[in-house]
Amino acid sequence: MTDMTADLPAFPVERTPNCPFDPPAEYAQRRDNDPIAPAACPVGFDAWVVTRYEDVRAMLRDPRFSSRAMPAAHIMPGADWDMPVTPGNIVQLDGEEHGRLRRALIAEFTVRRVEQMRPYIQNAIDEHIDRLLAGPAPVDLYEHFALAIPSLVICELLGVPYEDRDTFHRLTAILTALDSDQQTQDDAFMQLAEYLFPLFRAKEASPGNDLISRMIVRGRENGDPLSAEILVELASSLLVAGHETTANQIALSTVALLSNPEQLAKLRANPDIAPSAVEEMLRYLSIAQYGLLRHATEDIELGDTKIKAGDWVVASIASGNRDDRFFSDPDEIDLERPTNRHLAFGFGIHQCLGQQLARVELQEVFVRLFTRIPTLRLAVDEDDLVFNHRTLVYGVKKLPVTWESE
Ligand code: HEM
Repeated sequence: MTDMTADLPAFPVERTPNCPFDPPAEYAQRRDNDPIAPAACPVGFDAWVVTRYEDVRAMLRDPRFSSRAMPAAHIMPGADWDMPVTPGNIVQLDGEEHGRLRRALIAEFTVRRVEQMRPYIQNAIDEHIDRLLAGPAPVDLYEHFALAIPSLVICELLGVPYEDRDTFHRLTAILTALDSDQQTQDDAFMQLAEYLFPLFRAKEASPGNDLISRMIVRGRENGDPLSAEILVELASSLLVAGHETTANQIALSTVALLSNPEQLAKLRANPDIAPSAVEEMLRYLSIAQYGLLRHATEDIELGDTKIKAGDWVVASIASGNRDDRFFSDPDEIDLERPTNRHLAFGFGIHQCLGQQLARVELQEVFVRLFTRIPTLRLAVDEDDLVFNHRTLVYGVKKLPVTWESE
């Protein structure tokens, strides 16, 4: 392992006050001066921080960087819990263990499969907008729209009753928060498994038309059934991964677009640009704010840097997405940016499995929310919004909005 005993700069660093959409200014200095450089992480160990776009991609596609054992502690002071590496925790597995689960899930997330869900998603969004318009304003758009849509969609996909959302919202919020302890994390993990297990058994006895049932049936048919433990864990991972992320991306994009009225006007004037607008907001906001952590399994040369076996390495996707070696004017929002090979969904074998689903949800939200509520605006000063700094996924805690009634 590299001896990192020198006086190191801290990681992660705070965002610049009053720049809620930008990653910390220090990343630009690192990209220019020290693109792969060690940093002092708050608890337990130090890590290399990789900040340039091309290096981030090179690192994430290199199987010698392992995803196993991912202490949350690298990310924020005070977070002293680790995610358990269990056989169904897809994001932390390597090699064939990971490949087996990925292959079992991939059919559920193809463009074709996700497009079949588009009408359901459109309908869910329209119904929620109808409800917003019929109800009182101001209203918290995070709870009543941004969180509700992905939650409904992931429940529909998995075959989990939406009526139980309070239970899994509470548990997934714990599982993505940094300021809880190991016991609270383990309890939440167990409670989610206990909630899903009876559902799984019911589907095993009588499969329905949902992801969990289809995986049970496919496993029986292809002679490689996944165990109950693995399937329940995969379902938990999807519940966690599938709604907090998209919810925060919806809410934060809404704030960023409302504060960039010229760009929003372009989207309203031409909703056909929604697909490129979505890619741009994913790039610009990079909600996986603290980056992706890996562990070197052997000595590796990354760029000009020699990383030793056992070293921890963080790929800063927020920094890579603002690298002007790759993107022109990366700090500007350009909803019609012609090519946008951003890193918001990661890269390499763990690249987000749910990305097509997230895209369709976001595209439909972008088109429908801003055209059906053309006078939508924040109900508080932007400076008074509270941002989630202490969570793996960046966003706003509440999003009070209002509009002119007809
Ligand atoms: C993986 C971001 C939505 C399921 C990832 C990774 C990122 C990411 C950065 C890579 C993690 C790593 O390499 O360590 C996002 C963002 C989303 C989003 C920004 C929304 C805007 C979703 C949705 C689902 C989902 C809707 C499921 C329904 C997954 C899964 C993985 C993953 C299962 C692990 C894949 C693997 O390890 O092979 N996501 N995600 N995500 N995401 Fe997403």
